Amino acid sequence: MHIGRLMISDPRRAERFGKRPAPNLPDYPKARAGFSWHSVRSDLDGLPGGRGLNIAHEAVDRHAVGSGAHRIAIRWLGKGGATRDVSYGQLRELTDRFALALRRLGVGMGDRVFVLSDRIPELYVAALGTLKNRSILCPLFSAYGPDPIRERLTLGRARVLVTTQRLYRRKVKAIRDRLPQLEHVITVGEPDRIGEPAREGDGGETLDFEEALRAPADGFAIEPTDPEDPALLHFTSGTTGAPKGVLHVHEAVLAHYATGKLVLDLRPDDVFWCTADPGWVTGVSYGIISPLTVGCTLIVDQEEFNAERWYGILQDQHVTVWYTAPTAIRMLMRAGEDVAERFDLTGLRFLASVGEPLEASAVRWGERVLGGPFHDTWWQTETGSIMIANFASAGVKPGSMGLPVPGVHATVLTRTEVGMEELRGAGVTGELALRIGWPSMFRAYIDEPERYAERFSGPWYLTGDLARIDEDGYFWFVGRLHDVIKSAGHLIGPIEVEDCLRDHPAVAEVGVIGRPDVVAGQIVKACVVLRPGYEENDALARELLAHARRRLGPVVGPKEIRFWKALPKTPSGKIMRHVLRAAETGSPPGARPSGNDSTHG
Ligand code: WT7
Repeated sequence: MHIGRLMISDPRRAERFGKRPAPNLPDYPKARAGFSWHSVRSDLDGLPGGRGLNIAHEAVDRHAVGSGAHRIAIRWLGKGGATRDVSYGQLRELTDRFALALRRLGVGMGDRVFVLSDRIPELYVAALGTLKNRSILCPLFSAYGPDPIRERLTLGRARVLVTTQRLYRRKVKAIRDRLPQLEHVITVGEPDRIGEPAREGDGGETLDFEEALRAPADGFAIEPTDPEDPALLHFTSGTTGAPKGVLHVHEAVLAHYATGKLVLDLRPDDVFWCTADPGWVTGVSYGIISPLTVGCTLIVDQEEFNAERWYGILQDQHVTVWYTAPTAIRMLMRAGEDVAERFDLTGLRFLASVGEPLEASAVRWGERVLGGPFHDTWWQTETGSIMIANFASAGVKPGSMGLPVPGVHATVLTRTEVGMEELRGAGVTGELALRIGWPSMFRAYIDEPERYAERFSGPWYLTGDLARIDEDGYFWFVGRLHDVIKSAGHLIGPIEVEDCLRDHPAVAEVGVIGRPDVVAGQIVKACVVLRPGYEENDALARELLAHARRRLGPVVGPKEIRFWKALPKTPSGKIMRHVLRAAETGSPPGARPSGNDSTHG
């Protein structure tokens, strides 16, 4: 039986979409069978003279030759309407200068360079220049307050911090004396910020970014870089527990490049917009590295979400490939189709989503309103790049995460007395696991070898997610291992219960958890935020319970509803179900249900 495989093909809708060339991956089974990471390596340059593999060379320098130097690498859309184009040639020179500036400071291979900045061109220069210098790039989310910043700078033993004058004054200055290992702070001035002095001195505590880049530079030869040399350090803000430093190496660029081409279908003439902030892994892997390795133009928007602005960018910048997140898609859906109708979105060729489950209705909304379906993709900070995806050629299954990327072997496992065992057969649910050996697999949780080892079993990396594989080999997200509910002996994933309730017109947001119960072990409980205009009362609660029970049946349907004003979320927008659980049981919100926890921001 085929569960609603949807080859999206309404010709009237498709007209609104740009003319679609044959995808880079025309035949999924064939591409999978013929794939080798070795051949991806031969698509890339490597450092001149066989001196290894460096992400920044593949992303920047190799495109900045001949006429390629004039092509636009970054189109920056600043606050208040400012724009700036940075060509591949300019990016090469600027990143050379930044790398030289680090070298002059005595900062070298393996030293940690943190970047805390809003989305401005200097962030991209610092990120790629750091990689040229073989230092480790550690991005921080600019909306963090002083405490999480200090915690991460300390955990990561930051030697250098690149930030803006404004963020320095607001968030770093006061904690600086508690960061003895932080030797250099390089700040970017913000001359176009109205009402603030252009270059306020920081009393010699900081170096000026422009000043640092000004010194004469005659190119920068990247030193030999081993593919296993560390390159990127991402902190995953656990929804429980202390943040973990996830370390990636230069070899990851193979996966950034291959997935950019095969999953996001990128080509050099694409205008690509990844809406994720570079403070998170998506904003680095796909907001910087992947599209540049292909040679695209990437759009960088300094501002935050706004439906009209976003449609305006898609239209005015002729964005061809768009990578965004379910939360943003839902906000666009809420803004209404009439807003979308006012814009010409025919330049769009490929839409993709990541970060949370993307419900089938959102996939179809893309098809109806934007002219093409959203292609859901699944991955994690630890995996470094997309591992499971709906492909342009293989057919989108709305609600499913898709198929494993060529070169990636995914399965579901169950815990037995003798260890982890692979589950075979369609429809079974187990822990999603990936066979070790893809290039962007993380190489460490820094300073936590035991926590790292816990994530592996034999040949498998254990993702901490639960998934189901259907008869066509598509993967369906069931939940986080520790969010799963066991009620009267049945395993219930919160996601399908949430999806069902979200379909009710009264429901704005919903988080589903298991509440401890003496009889059933746990019972399914829904924490619901209502849409404006609906009143919290018993009648509505009964109606919601009946709605879910009708569709899900008595075992899976929730037994209790509690109304919340807002749901607790991580900075990146994931529902913190452990906080909901704590509210039900009175246990401290930081408490882990059991075992290792890997729920992240
Ligand atoms: C966790 C990883 C992906 C990079 C940014 C987040 C959840 C991610 C999906 C999806 C359902 C998803 C998983 C995963 N997740 N993508 N398409 N469908 N869930 O990286 O912060 O490390 O989070 O996000 O639970 O394990 P992260």
